[in-house]
Order: sequence, then structure tokens, then C-alpha cells
Amino acid sequence: MRLRNHRNYAQLDLTPGPGVNVFIGANGQGKTNLLEAVAMLALSSSPRARRELELVGPVAPMARIEAEVESGGITAELAITLTVEGDRARRVIEVDGVRRRAFDLPGRFRVTLFWPDDLGLIKAGPELRRRFLNQMLVQIEPGYARALAGLKRVLEQRNSLLKRIAAGEEGGDVLDVWNQELIRLGGEVAAARSAAVLELQPEAARYHAEIAGGERLDIRYEGPPKDLAEAVHNSLAEDLRRGSTSVGPHHDDLRVLLEGQDARAYSSQGQQRTAVVSLKLAEAALVARRTGERPVLLLDDVLSELDAERRAALLRQVGGEGQVIITSVEAGPFPPELIANAMVWTVIEGRIEACG
Ligand SMILES: Nc1ncnc2c1ncn2[C@@H]1O[C@H](COP(=O)(O)OP(=O)(O)O)[C@@H](O)[C@H]1O
Ligand SMILES: [Mg+2]
Repeated sequence: MRLRNHRNYAQLDLTPGPGVNVFIGANGQGKTNLLEAVAMLALSSSPRARRELELVGPVAPMARIEAEVESGGITAELAITLTVEGDRARRVIEVDGVRRRAFDLPGRFRVTLFWPDDLGLIKAGPELRRRFLNQMLVQIEPGYARALAGLKRVLEQRNSLLKRIAAGEEGGDVLDVWNQELIRLGGEVAAARSAAVLELQPEAARYHAEIAGGERLDIRYEGPPKDLAEAVHNSLAEDLRRGSTSVGPHHDDLRVLLEGQDARAYSSQGQQRTAVVSLKLAEAALVARRTGERPVLLLDDVLSELDAERRAALLRQVGGEGQVIITSVEAGPFPPELIANAMVWTVIEGRIEACG
């Protein structure tokens, strides 16, 4: 992987090992920035930056993330270039030197990302849980990234038309084409999410029971109404009043239940963390099963946040085959046998060095 002017990396050339790679560094040195770059190659956009301009470092009006990745025996050169244009950054994605659209990138290289924000997944708002499903699905479901991008555009167009119609600037019939698209793309997204949650459920439950002494975890997809066409039709008056689209997968949630009770309302922090670890492990397993290949596991600073049992459960996934990138402020939480078989690196002020 090569980084040029990505956040605090002026210039980085890194060849991680095929197994476990541990990156140790104090706060603010570039550990998360590194993982972010790797994740972007799988997801096409940053999982944390609100604006892409944030990603561009101080030494040039351009940032570049490049990597040679191997998946299913096929090697590809992936590159993301951000060029500052006024108060925004323009993104260009290339695969083997050929320019591609953002939704063409995911699926060529896959990651399962787990970082401290995820520990709040259960208590946070539904947006984070939708993101959890999206990050997994763009990587394994051909067409999902495109449907998602299409849906976003449909909602923007439809919402702006709703306001114009309400203001008497447009007739109601301009909505027809957008309603059709909402129903088509919304149905596609909802079907993929629904199938994925059904598939995640048994595995997540198994991991959770294992870590939490038999406690029962249930996850349920709360999607749009089954008859989306009818629901879109019936909500029209309400949509016009609000100036926004009230039905569709942009309101979805993932319901998490512990012993039949809503985990959002009733769970302790320990139970939530166990549920999150279980969801992430189930995600990695699902990606591996669907694609025949383990995703690269990206674990950002989470080991120190987890107790011994959850850490061990996570690390059991880490052992054996598959590439893993783990960051930590200290080597303390890692079992010696893991360190003995890992490549260990230090991160200091945007520079990375191998240390044994
Ligand atoms: N666009 C940018 N240009 C230069 N430095 C940046 C940029 N964005 C973030 N940083 C720097 O990156 C550092 C944080 O890196 P991060 O990877 O989050 O640290 P940590 O090692 O704690 O995970 C901070 O020092 C921050 O100032
Ligand atoms: Mg960090």
C-alpha cells in the first residue's frame, strides 16, 4: 500500500504481512488514519470523514491511496485520488489504471472493520446500524452499492420535488418516475438487507451465547412495508406535507433483542459490547461464506476496550488464516503467542516502522 498526503501520512510505503499485523502507537500518531485508508479501498469512501476534504494532508492539494490487492486469486491495483477544488475534494477511483465509478470499487477487496465507535452500535441511532449492514452488503452483494447510490439520488430528487409541488411550482405527476425508482431501488436494498440479517442471525446468536454464558441474542430486520408500492402511494399526502419521503429503506433499523427484550432500552454496557462483538464476528463469517474468502479484519484500538473473554473470542477469529490489521496504544492486551506470530509495527507522527 502507498499513501501520499493522506491525512498525516506525507508518504508511506507499506507491505503488510499476510497474517496478523499489529500497529502500536500513542494517541494521534496515525493508527486510525491508516485503517481508514485500507477501509476506503474496500468501501470507496471514508467510514468516518464527513467531508472528503478532511482527508487531504497539508503538503499538497491532492491525496492518494494506492494498493495492490489480491482477492479470489486475482491481483488488482486500486487507487483513490482526492484533488482539492475550492472548498471540496474531487474523488477519482481507478482499478488497474482505468477510471471507475465509486460503486464499481467495492467487492474487489473486502474488509470487516471494527472500531471503538462500533461499541455504541446497539445504543446509537438507527443510522449506525444501517451503516453496519451497508458496509457488509456493498462488499458482497453485486449491485448493492449501485442501488444504494441510486436510492440516495432518488430521495434527494423526490424530496426536492415534494417541496416544489407543495409550493405549487410543479404538478404532482412529476413524481411518478421517482416513485417508481424509489419502489424499485428501495425493494432491492430491502431484500438484500432482509436476507443478510436472516443469515447473520444464527451465527451472531451462537457467538453471543458462547461469550455470554448462554444469553439469547436475536436480531431482526425492520424494513419498509412489504408492499412498498402501496405504502409509497398511501404516504403521498403526508410526504407532501413534510417535504420528505416517509417510507423506504432510509428509515430501516436492525432490532437487537437480548432474552427477548429490546437491547437498546434494557441492556448493560457489557451485554451491548458482547452483542456488538458477536455481530462483527458473524459479519466476518458471512462475508467469508458468501465469497469463499476471509475479509481483511481491521481492528482499531478495540482490544483495550474489551474484557478478557470478549478479547479472546475476537482473537480466536484472528488466529489461523486471513489477514488482520490491529492497532493499539500498547502491546499489553495482546497474548504473547499472537505477537510471536505477528508482524509488529510502530506508528509515530505519520511514519511506520517495523519493530521485530
Ligand atoms: N487532513 C489532515 N492532514 C494532516 N493531519 C491530519 C489530517 N487529518 C487528521 N490529521 C492528524 O492525524 C492525527 C490523528 O490520527 P489518528 O490516526 O486518528 O490517530 P490515532 O493514532 O490516535 O488513531 C492527528 O494528529 C490529526 O491532526
Ligand atoms: Mg485512533
